[in-house]
Amino acid sequence: MIQTLKEHLETTDSELASLIIKIGEIAEIISAELPYRRGKADTKNVFGEVQLVADKWADECLIEELKKTGIVKTIVSEEHPDIVKINEQGKYNVTLDPLDGSSNIETNNSVGIIVGIYKKDLPTQGKHQVAAMYILYGPMITLVYTARNGVHEFLRTKEGFILKEENIKLPEPGQLYGIGGLRKEWQPKFKEYVEELEAKGSKLRYGGAFVGDFNQVLHYGGIFSYPALITKPQGKLRLLVEAFPMSLIIEQAGGASSNGEKSILEIEPKDLNQRIPVYVGNKEFIKKIEKL
Ligand code: AHG
Ligand code: MN
Ligand code: MN
Repeated sequence: MIQTLKEHLETTDSELASLIIKIGEIAEIISAELPYRRGKADTKNVFGEVQLVADKWADECLIEELKKTGIVKTIVSEEHPDIVKINEQGKYNVTLDPLDGSSNIETNNSVGIIVGIYKKDLPTQGKHQVAAMYILYGPMITLVYTARNGVHEFLRTKEGFILKEENIKLPEPGQLYGIGGLRKEWQPKFKEYVEELEAKGSKLRYGGAFVGDFNQVLHYGGIFSYPALITKPQGKLRLLVEAFPMSLIIEQAGGASSNGEKSILEIEPKDLNQRIPVYVGNKEFIKKIEKL
């Protein structure tokens, strides 16, 4: 029997459930508009990266639509330097990577949306998330969420989002590795570690969108990393909008997250736009990295 996202969320707090459903609906609007929102905008984001028309538009669309719910208090978005105040009476604080992997749009490869949901005010540690989710635009649209009740995946169909897989756990042994940054920039010990993985027959899968690369690890096991680099010890990925949500999801799926020292969810953010080295995947892979 098919189960819809709404049915699956029946035992979750009703406002949180409605927020997760709403984000799924917004994701569909964004996906349908992408063909009309290509090209570069004339602006840079707080990280100094050239924004695409699609980055800015997805951000505006999410913020406008989330305003209408009345339950969102503030938003931290990759596309804004400061906290966006939405509704003082709102119950939830939301982090957004409105379009992850946006450089893949031009080549029609995977992109998606990454979301973290909190009751506590932001910035705070990732362990305080009440839910995290991502939507992946691949050949199909899938939605993965956790409301701290395991990790569940839904598939967009004519009937709406329907359950594809419930309570996903990382398979053992992990099969894949996907690692960002130039290899010559990897720290020597990390490079050795990757060479060991390769010698053992781990398969390389890297597509340049965290959502897509992460989703492969969720299903086949292994490790995704955007590591500390020699010239950029904090790596590339953003703690609040990228690393925290995915770390909650991987840990809920029986895996682990780390910045090289400890669980990413334990990191106390010092500022909204902080970057962090990211290592996520099967526990034994991540434990080894922490020992390097
Ligand atoms: P965004 O498009 O939101 O800026 O994120 C891009 C990130 C992430 O999705 C991916 O893992 C990484 O950047 C890819 O970086 P490289 O192009 O350096 O591989
Ligand atoms: Mn991103
Ligand atoms: Mn983005």
